[in-house]
Amino acid sequence: MALSLVPCPLCFFLFVLLPFFTNAQTYSNISLGLSLTAQNDNSQWVSPSGDFAFGFQQIDNDGYLLAIWFNKVPDRTIVWSANRNNLVQSGSKVQLTTDGQLLLNDQSGTQIWNANSVAAGVSYAAMLDTGNFVLANEDSDILWESFDQPTDTILPTQTMDQGGELVARYSETNFSHGRFKFTLQSDGNLLLYTRRYPLDTSNVAYWSTITSIGSGYRVTFNQSGYVSLIARNGSLLNYVFSVAVSTQNFYQRATIDHDGVFRLYVYPKNVTSSGGKWPMAWTTSSFIPSNICIRIMGETGSGACGFNSYCRLGDDQRPKCHCPPGYTFSDPKDVSKGCRQNFVAQNCDTASQETDLFEFREMFNADWPLIDFESFKSVNEDWCRQACLSDCYCAVAIFRDGNCWKKQIPLANGRSDSSTGGKALIKIRKDNSTSVASSGSKKKDQSTLIITGSVFLGISIFLNGLLLVANLMFSHRSSQQKSKTVHPHSHQGNLAMNPRSFTYNELEVATRVFKEELGSGAFGTVYKGVLGSENTEFVAVKKLGKVVTVTEGEKEFESELSSIGRTNHKNLVKLLGFCNEKQNRLLVYEYMSNGCLANFLFGDSRLEWFRRTQIAFGVARGLSYLHEECSTQIIHCDVKPQNILLDETLTARISDFGLAKLLKTDQSRTFTAIRGTKGYVAPEWFKSMPITAKVDVYSFGILLLELICCRRNFEMDLKEENVMILADWAYDCYKEGKVHLLVEDDEEAMSDMKRVEKFVMVAIWCIQEDPSLRPAMKKVVLMLEGAVHVPIPPDPASFISIS
Ligand SMILES: *[C@@H]1O[C@H](CO)[C@@H](O)[C@H](O)[C@H]1NC(C)=O
Ligand SMILES: *[C@@H]1O[C@H](CO)[C@@H](O)[C@H](O)[C@H]1NC(C)=O
Ligand SMILES: *[C@@H]1O[C@H](CO)[C@@H](O)[C@H](O)[C@H]1NC(C)=O
Ligand SMILES: *[C@@H]1O[C@H](CO)[C@@H](O)[C@H](O)[C@H]1NC(C)=O
Ligand SMILES: *[C@@H]1O[C@H](CO)[C@@H](O)[C@H](O)[C@H]1NC(C)=O
Ligand SMILES: *[C@@H]1O[C@H](CO)[C@@H](O)[C@H](O)[C@H]1NC(C)=O
Repeated sequence: MALSLVPCPLCFFLFVLLPFFTNAQTYSNISLGLSLTAQNDNSQWVSPSGDFAFGFQQIDNDGYLLAIWFNKVPDRTIVWSANRNNLVQSGSKVQLTTDGQLLLNDQSGTQIWNANSVAAGVSYAAMLDTGNFVLANEDSDILWESFDQPTDTILPTQTMDQGGELVARYSETNFSHGRFKFTLQSDGNLLLYTRRYPLDTSNVAYWSTITSIGSGYRVTFNQSGYVSLIARNGSLLNYVFSVAVSTQNFYQRATIDHDGVFRLYVYPKNVTSSGGKWPMAWTTSSFIPSNICIRIMGETGSGACGFNSYCRLGDDQRPKCHCPPGYTFSDPKDVSKGCRQNFVAQNCDTASQETDLFEFREMFNADWPLIDFESFKSVNEDWCRQACLSDCYCAVAIFRDGNCWKKQIPLANGRSDSSTGGKALIKIRKDNSTSVASSGSKKKDQSTLIITGSVFLGISIFLNGLLLVANLMFSHRSSQQKSKTVHPHSHQGNLAMNPRSFTYNELEVATRVFKEELGSGAFGTVYKGVLGSENTEFVAVKKLGKVVTVTEGEKEFESELSSIGRTNHKNLVKLLGFCNEKQNRLLVYEYMSNGCLANFLFGDSRLEWFRRTQIAFGVARGLSYLHEECSTQIIHCDVKPQNILLDETLTARISDFGLAKLLKTDQSRTFTAIRGTKGYVAPEWFKSMPITAKVDVYSFGILLLELICCRRNFEMDLKEENVMILADWAYDCYKEGKVHLLVEDDEEAMSDMKRVEKFVMVAIWCIQEDPSLRPAMKKVVLMLEGAVHVPIPPDPASFISIS
């Protein structure tokens, strides 16, 4: 979240306004017999410092809440309330009776709430400066306190014991019990749960500490702003929030919000105390879970948002609920009620006739997990579409990696996040949908046209580049071309977050002082680390070597990183953050549990043919995204199996993209770095030719051959010379019609020779010496997928060099 300087007129305004709130009388001790009446907001008991007040607050026109609030914060933020499920009307009264009871009666005198204390012995009440409202005896022993009955918020110095819970409010303005809670169970586990609304029982846990059962005893919120779980013996078990912000200069509160996220908020007590860095507003300083949209996954319940809707993190990192295409909110004023279909559902009696009347809207990276009623393996997208179209129960089909899942209404657990992958096909009725009707086949023609167009443009750009910018190493696609190219995935850009800035110290802690090395490469060494209050988010921390640190200024470094950080594609390793402190420049990436592709190709355990084809698709799609769909084109410059990582599902994830540009001011070093990975390097690197995205296409071609054959491009120890260089051998085999020699001892591939041959042909196109003959990655994807015909490739070496 961006923190901006507070514009000075606002400071002035606040200083003028503040006395208005502190004007009210402060009551150090509230004697027996006193009462407050709900009327026009003026009835309150204020703490000695004026920081907190107890009394009635009017909630819109719905009634009054008996509450405790931050009294110096202009919006009088409520931290506790007595009657959240049952607002009272004007004329209602809260009373400290002469016999020491604290009662809330409505205007007709009916008791709505009482403090349920052992009234005997109460001699006064007090609103304390901590935000705690207490009933005490003569010796000032506390007999009852509001801190023992928290609603949705805890404050510094407050604790919550086993059995305690915070329940989120229903909406921003409706304080009644909502759909989420934060609870320290009596078994000692600290969790965030969805509630089985409107009942209070727990449904799905979406965050928990990872302590052993039974050990958690108390949640504390101390003066330095740490929220921790401690054991019975007082030892620290877990941090919930560990961002130290002093309570001296900041008001703080930890609140479970109506969206289910538990947030630590801070608010500067005065402008100078924050050094001008914080706005005079509640600012989230930490929150759990990091992405609630993907964390809630229950067999029952609707997920983070309502039924038939989906949840996506907004730019402010807050979850937002949306309706899929063809659906609208059932109640626009209450999006948690979900969405409904905006069309008449498919008729099951005449389903076969009605298939013509329905079509699909595509959503990338969206899913509604756990509600499939059928699933199919090893199918293609067309098959999946047909299966859903002809099934009146199917409302949405998810297609991902050759799998097809059919989903029924109501859709639950909806989420949209780059980690999801795949494509959701939302089935809607054609006739009364709002946007242009376009059948599947029409779409395909259009995209082919666009691709042909970009190839032509690519060639012309190449020629221009050759004449004009022969010594410019990284040519960028002209903005003119960008506007002509349709970006089917460009909406994904909106989902991406800028990478977060870490201090060196934080990363030292995360990596336990760079203890576990994962690998090292041209740009530096990579270490394993762990982040998050849950200590469950593994990351890879890359310490950049000197080569990078000497080159660029801070501004450029960070702007470059933010363009890397904005990329968002399931075949890319996501950049989560960075550290930029003087000599220390580090990058924080998602951790990929299966390491790099090289280990699976050239090692003992080889991936099966099917997996290898999926990896080829993945890498091709990732590169196509970098080349064509990013706001600034990213040329990888170092595509090789060591830079292709595999996640837990063995999906290919490209790493190290965008780093080549960080080196651009020192080109000679770039050459050294690039030459280090000989074999994957396009010929133009060695000639005075412009470097375009086609260098990646070349490297991909070599990688594709290695994927097909499970061997390195160069193998010195092979006896026959003509076999030593894979690229040459592959072309020879192809030319002689003996492609099967390439996969001789791979039974699975042998039984899929058509595809092997197609892949070899695509690879040969990619490794053409003449960059302009190489297809763009987008076309490579289509050729691999079989969406476009693969013409017979020429001899890669037929290009007569002009230099
Ligand atoms: C409040 O009342 C108690 C008990 O009568 C007394 O001990 C205490 O000093 C009073 N506090 C203030 C601030 O008047
Ligand atoms: C708050 O929301 C609940 C659940 O929808 C509803 O029953 C209640 O009337 C609402 N309260 C107010 C004051 O709007
Ligand atoms: C305190 O309790 C925790 C958990 O029950 C245990 O792991 C720890 O060793 C104890 N520490 C001491 C000092 O007894
Ligand atoms: C709050 O807790 C943290 C972590 O346990 C500790 O480092 C800090 O000293 C504590 N602050 C106070 C004021 O107790
Ligand atoms: C504001 O903060 C500064 C720095 O912490 C402190 O010295 C000053 O007394 C504060 N002013 C007020 C009005 O609280
Ligand atoms: C589609 O038709 C249904 C039934 O006639 C109607 O309720 C719905 O509003 C229509 N949707 C649109 C987007 O026009």
